[in-house]
Amino acid sequence: MKNGKLGYAVLGLGIGMAHADAAYGYDRAELVAVCDIDEARLAKAQKRYAGVTAYTDFEDLLRDEQVDVISICLPSAMHADFAVRAMEAGKHVLVEKPLDITPERAQLIEDARQRTGMICGVVHQNRFNVDMYPIREAVESGRLGSLILGTFAVKWYRDQSYYDNGGWRGTWEMDGGGSLMNQAVHTVDLMQWLMGDVESVTSHAGIYNHDIKTEDTTASLIKFKSGAVATFVSTTCAYPGISTEICLYGTGGSVEADADCLKTWKFTDAEDEDAEEAAMLTRYGGGNLAALPEDAARLFGHQHVVEDMISAVRDGRPPEVTPADALRAVEIVCAVYESARTGKTVTLS
Ligand SMILES: NC(=O)c1ccc[n+]([C@@H]2O[C@H](COP(=O)([O-])OP(=O)(O)OC[C@H]3O[C@@H](n4cnc5c(N)ncnc54)[C@H](O)[C@@H]3O)[C@@H](O)[C@H]2O)c1
Repeated sequence: MKNGKLGYAVLGLGIGMAHADAAYGYDRAELVAVCDIDEARLAKAQKRYAGVTAYTDFEDLLRDEQVDVISICLPSAMHADFAVRAMEAGKHVLVEKPLDITPERAQLIEDARQRTGMICGVVHQNRFNVDMYPIREAVESGRLGSLILGTFAVKWYRDQSYYDNGGWRGTWEMDGGGSLMNQAVHTVDLMQWLMGDVESVTSHAGIYNHDIKTEDTTASLIKFKSGAVATFVSTTCAYPGISTEICLYGTGGSVEADADCLKTWKFTDAEDEDAEEAAMLTRYGGGNLAALPEDAARLFGHQHVVEDMISAVRDGRPPEVTPADALRAVEIVCAVYESARTGKTVTLS
C-alpha cells in the first residue's frame, strides 16, 4: 500500500506499458513500481510515471512492501514461473495472455492461486470489446436459441521484423506457437466463452510467409460438446491485416461481427427485424462510442482489465477472467497444434 492506496507494479514493459498507463490513471490504486531487464525501457517508464520505483531484479520487486499487485507481462513461456513466485511472495497477479504455453504450465498458476489464496486475473480484454456485450447477452438469454455453427477468422498481418524483434516470438520454446497461440488466442477464448466446451479439433497448420519455427497460419474444424460445430482460421499473412470475424448462427437467429463492430443482427423473434438491426448497428456497429451510455473508455481494453483487477483485490472478489477460464483457450490451442502435427482429430479431456 502507498498513501492508503493499493500498490500496483508492472513486470515487463512492452505491452506492460498499457497496464502501467491504466493503473497510473486509476484512482483506486497507485502505480508504485516497474521492473524490466531492459534499462532503456525502464528509463522511459520512469520518465513517464512520476515517483515510480524502477527495478531490474524481480526479487527486489517482490521484496518491495508497497507492492500489492503485479502485472506479469513477460514473454509467454515465463508467465507461470513468475506468477507463481509472485503469489508465493504474497502478491496478487494479473497475467497477460496466454496464461502460459501449455495446459500443464498454465495449471501451475491455478494451483498457486488455490494454495496461496492470492487473487489472480488474466488479460483476455476482447471479452470487453463493445460489441461483445450484446452478443454475449444474446447467447446467455437464449435469444440466439441453440447454437448450430460458428465461424471465426483472425486474418492479421505481421511482417518479418515483428518476429525478429525480441527473439521470442514465433518460437515453440517461448511463444508456444505462432498466429494461433499469440494473436488468435483472444478469439479462441471468445469462441469457447460464447459457444461452450470444445469436444474435438481437426486442424492444419503451416509456415507460409515468415522465417519462423512454429506457424503463421492455421485452419481448424471444431466440434463442441453441445453438438455445435465451428471453423476457426488464424493467420499473420493477410496483408495488410484484414479482419477478426466472429459469427454465430443459432436456431433463434444470426449475429456477425468484424473488427469489434457488429455487422449482422437478425432474430426470428424480432418485431421489426430491420429496424432492430439498424438500431443495433448504429450503437455497436462502427466503434460509435459516443452512442454508448457509460464512460465507454473504461468498458474495454487494458484499462478495463486493470481496473477490474484492482477492484477485485480491493473488494475481495474474483476478477472477471480467472486462470481456470483462461486455461481453456490454452488447451484448445495446444489441441490444434497436436492435431496439425499428428494429422488426427484430437479430443479434449
Ligand atoms: N493482451 C494483449 O493484447 C497483448 C498484446 C501484446 C502482448 N501480449 C502478451 O504480453 C506478453 C509480453 O509481450 P510483449 O509484446 O510486451 O513482449 P516484449 O518482448 O515487447 O516485452 C517483454 C519484456 O519483458 C522483459 N523481460 C524479459 N525477461 C525479464 C526478466 N527476467 N525480468 C524482467 N523483465 C524481463 C523484456 O526485457 C521485455 O521488455 C506476451 O505473453 C504476449 O503474448 C498481450
